[in-house]
Amino acid sequence: MLPDPARIEEAVALLNAGELVAFPTETVYGLGADARNPAAVARIFAAKGRPISHPLIVHISGIAAAQEWIADLPDSARRLADAFWPGPLTIVLPKAAGVPAEITGGQSTVALRAPAHPVARALLAAFGGGIAAPSANRYGRISPTRAADVHEELGDHVALVLDGGPCEVGLESTIVACLGGRVTLLRPGAVSRSQLEDVVGPVADADASSPRAPGRDRSHYAPRTALAIIKAAELLPEIDRSLAVGERLAVIARSSAPVASDQLVWRQLDKQPAGYGRALYAALRELDRVGAARILVQDVPDDEPWAAIADRLRRAAAQGADGAVTDAT
Ligand code: TXA
Ligand code: MG
Repeated sequence: MLPDPARIEEAVALLNAGELVAFPTETVYGLGADARNPAAVARIFAAKGRPISHPLIVHISGIAAAQEWIADLPDSARRLADAFWPGPLTIVLPKAAGVPAEITGGQSTVALRAPAHPVARALLAAFGGGIAAPSANRYGRISPTRAADVHEELGDHVALVLDGGPCEVGLESTIVACLGGRVTLLRPGAVSRSQLEDVVGPVADADASSPRAPGRDRSHYAPRTALAIIKAAELLPEIDRSLAVGERLAVIARSSAPVASDQLVWRQLDKQPAGYGRALYAALRELDRVGAARILVQDVPDDEPWAAIADRLRRAAAQGADGAVTDAT
């Protein structure tokens, strides 16, 4: 969907006035504010119900615009930006002096991303500055991949929702940190580990010394309905047991329904990870509304193209397992 110049102009005026504007990116919809306006950034946290210690991604038009946000541009980061921007990659770097603490959660780093969606690019070009934006969902909920999802999540809290159609990727960006001479993968996404390694060599896994990325915490991206990941061979026996005790079930699988029952709502998603990832959040949203006791998700292959999907499913399944939703952004 192409940008409408009048809507972009309206969005820029709202951002300049310190208001919130939701906008499409190729990953998920973002809830944007002028990154240089701490009062506007504070509104993001209020709208989402998100703790203020959680840092935000600053969206920029490209590498040239990165300089004003960072203290240092390591060669690794330059190469990654050259290879993957604009696109679904966020790079965490040492922050420049003067970056508002509201953005960084008081940390010494800042996360930057140049999104590829034409509406996001038109907005950034017209606004001329950085746009701080988390995913446009309430804290702990599933990220929105359609304009209607943003309305459902945030309603009156947002001055304008730019509609850019359904998001192409459908899962949040890959996040890497380029700090202390190391490149560390903080969140898997559409840019895979081997794509990163082709550009910068070995990429470390996050460990206790890595910067905190709350989106990595265990419970996140969760529907309200309890969700369980089930191996394909166990799916049918599990369904039989539930139906026998009168339980209403929702299922996400890569094959068609083996049984028909009015207690069963079945969503078949793509066999390829790109199509599956694009449709997953919308499917979870819809299945969350069918009054099922549980959502069963057929497990996905344990290989790299499915890594981001497997990560989000694990976090969705962790919801409620320990009675708490922790650090969901
Ligand atoms: O695809 C995306 O990344 C979307 C679109 C809108 O760009 N944004 C997004 O933002 O997913 P959010 O806030 O929902 O998730 C960003 C994650 C959070 O887990 C946050 O803690 C982490 O990035 N993060 C932000 N700044 C960071 C920093 N300086 N160091 C480490 N992690 C950071
Ligand atoms: Mg989020």
